[in-house]
Amino acid sequence: MTTMENGSPTAAGSGASATQAFRSAQQSGTAGDVSAERVSTVVRAMLDGVHRAIHDHQVTYPEFQAAKQWLIEVGEGGEWPLFLDVFVEHEVEDVAARTQQGSKGSILGPYYLPDQQRLDSAATLPMRASERGTPLVFAGQVRDTGGTPLSGATLDIWHADDEGYYSGFAPHLPDGNLRGVVSVNDQGRFEITTIQPAPYQIPTDGPTGKLIEAAGWHPWRPAHLHLIVAAPGHRPITTQLYFEGGDWLDSDVAEATKPELVLSPQAQGDGRMRSEYDFVLEPER
Ligand code: DHB
Ligand code: FE
Repeated sequence: MTTMENGSPTAAGSGASATQAFRSAQQSGTAGDVSAERVSTVVRAMLDGVHRAIHDHQVTYPEFQAAKQWLIEVGEGGEWPLFLDVFVEHEVEDVAARTQQGSKGSILGPYYLPDQQRLDSAATLPMRASERGTPLVFAGQVRDTGGTPLSGATLDIWHADDEGYYSGFAPHLPDGNLRGVVSVNDQGRFEITTIQPAPYQIPTDGPTGKLIEAAGWHPWRPAHLHLIVAAPGHRPITTQLYFEGGDWLDSDVAEATKPELVLSPQAQGDGRMRSEYDFVLEPER
């Protein structure tokens, strides 16, 4: 991983690490046998979209060659997970959500790491002694669609720090920082102490960042918690939770916010904020 003078991660570092994380999680190739008919239909439709854009906007040879150069750089920089999770995953999630009951989901993003520290609720996420940010107590219950508490549930939680950086991808952060797999108690309840994350900015020094700049877009995602909530015999839910009134909530570059996913933490009176959120899982089909 590469580091700039100020210790913050470069796009080359984050991007390459995201590619490594994706490969080692073996998330690829899980579609099983895809028929030639399906490949043909979907790829044809994608190519049709590209052809239409070229035609409608009279794309020139220099523009075509610039696009080719950019695509090569995204691959070389290992930024495909980064680019695809920001600009494409929300649409795949939308399709998946159509068959999902219970709590709303959102995108996984490129910064999930499996096998983090297991903690029993009430839990405090691993953090530095000097960890900056407003302390947050995140609490709630996991139930099934019939309202029965799920005492075997776990919450795999990860989020950025007070500067918007993720451990495992930013070299100045200790491994496992602000990550954990929390087991609920026998009533399906959890209470997790952490800090409120800052908004996340797509690294501006790599090809994805350069494209965003060239297009005059902004590179920000609103502050968010990532969660995978799971319980035996139930369909796990991958989701994100946002913060009421936070910057970029209405203009997330990854288009991954939903009104149901916004927390409104309240001051607890002890310097900590507290937010309650319950999760509902559907039975596995
Ligand atoms: C990206 C980063 C995130 O933190 C996230 O939640 C989704 C996408 C990205 O840079 O691709
Ligand atoms: Fe994220």
